[in-house]
Amino acid sequence: MGFLSVLSFAHKLVKERVRSGDAVVDATVGTGVDTLFLAQAAGETGTVYGFDIQPQALALAEERLRKALGERCRIADGSGPEGGRANVRLLLRSHAELAAALPAPLHGRIAAVMFNLGYLPAAFADTGVITLAETTLPALEGALAVLKPGGIATIVLYPGHEGGGAEADAVERWCAALPGTTAQAVIYRMLQKSDAPYMIALEKK
Ligand SMILES: C[S@@+](CC[C@H](N)C(=O)[O-])C[C@H]1O[C@@H](n2cnc3c(N)ncnc32)[C@H](O)[C@@H]1O
Repeated sequence: MGFLSVLSFAHKLVKERVRSGDAVVDATVGTGVDTLFLAQAAGETGTVYGFDIQPQALALAEERLRKALGERCRIADGSGPEGGRANVRLLLRSHAELAAALPAPLHGRIAAVMFNLGYLPAAFADTGVITLAETTLPALEGALAVLKPGGIATIVLYPGHEGGGAEADAVERWCAALPGTTAQAVIYRMLQKSDAPYMIALEKK
């Protein structure tokens, strides 16, 4: 049967904690797999905030969301007045600005933040554009600041590509150093393959 993949395990942990109407965050939208999953978990009355620094990623995600959810999904870039009604807000911003980008009333009320690090998994993508510890760590700080008590952050790490190992080590050290009174940190990793993707989850106290 085998164990769940890291992505499926991240979805399982998030699904157990997100309710219809919740506000949630996809910190690395990419092609929108997690954005769609979060939109379905939070429902029409919930809100998903999605971050990516590549316009092509947000366009792919928007296409995926519209195909899967059709009229049930309202998308906005968060800049115009229609942003107030949108249940998915795709932001062309770095996740390092996560806390600053979310409305103040939502601070401490976010149910889940998902990170899927690395590069955009698309045929045309520039695999040189990767997430980096220098922005990922501030983003994790931001995630912990906006999560509600009992809220979860999932981080899928890719030590196998160039630069991925250094980022994964930095993230792992940062998470391991968190005081237990701030968050509980767990790791899900295949022990026989050191370069396989793995996941860290944080539950805010
Ligand atoms: C592994 S992909 C995410 C995969 C995504 N979950 C999917 O379904 O395709 C990582 C994404 O992070 C984005 N990224 C890189 N640096 C970023 C940053 N500072 N802030 C937000 N997104 C970033 C990349 O552009 C890329 O699309």
